Amino acid sequence: MKKFLTVILAVLTMITFTACGGSAEKTSAPEEKPADKILVAYFSCTGHTKTAALEVAELLKADTFEIVPVDSYTPDDLNYHIEDCRANIEQKDSAARPAIKNKIENPAQYKTIVVAFPIWWGAEPRIIDTFVESYDLAGKIIVPVCTSGGSDIQASVVNLKELCKGATVTEGKRLGIISKDEVKTWLDSLKL
Ligand SMILES: Cc1cc2nc3c(=O)[nH]c(=O)nc-3n(C[C@H](O)[C@H](O)[C@H](O)COP(=O)(O)O)c2cc1C
Repeated sequence: MKKFLTVILAVLTMITFTACGGSAEKTSAPEEKPADKILVAYFSCTGHTKTAALEVAELLKADTFEIVPVDSYTPDDLNYHIEDCRANIEQKDSAARPAIKNKIENPAQYKTIVVAFPIWWGAEPRIIDTFVESYDLAGKIIVPVCTSGGSDIQASVVNLKELCKGATVTEGKRLGIISKDEVKTWLDSLKL
């Protein structure tokens, strides 16, 4: 009888041990959802857009990516008082696509991309067009934000809706003139 009970006990111990092993596997860490990440991509020549973009990234706990031109813009390139300065020539040519030096690492991990830029002649700099055309944005959410001397972002939003094939382009926002709290309230309203 004693021997019989010992065997029963051993079998029960084995079953319990196996069951615990199984449940340990089931309680492993939940899978990450990398496709839900947010990226703030920004182009900035004199720093205003960079400051605003980094604030947005902090609020959204997002990764950041600086859009770096192959040929950086000199002060002469940006002097819009000179009719044929580089920036003016590019903005007058809707087909201009200034080259970008760097690439987003693994763009598939981002569901949402905030695209931040200064307004040039009422719209996004052509290098932003290069940027959005460099990736397959289908299924992604594109959030346009800008800084400017006064112009709004509406023309850029219209252009980006045309260029970001298959993506959802949200309403845009002019930053640099509203408080951090207002930026946060606006970002929250987008429910990203
Ligand atoms: C070539 C050029 C064109 C510009 N055109 C406009 C414009 O049409 N409307 C406006 O409000 N600001 C205009 N600006 C001002 C910039 O949008 C503004 O200074 C912006 O904050 C600069 O951003 P950044 O410091 O990130 O480069 C222009 C600036 C440049 C260099």
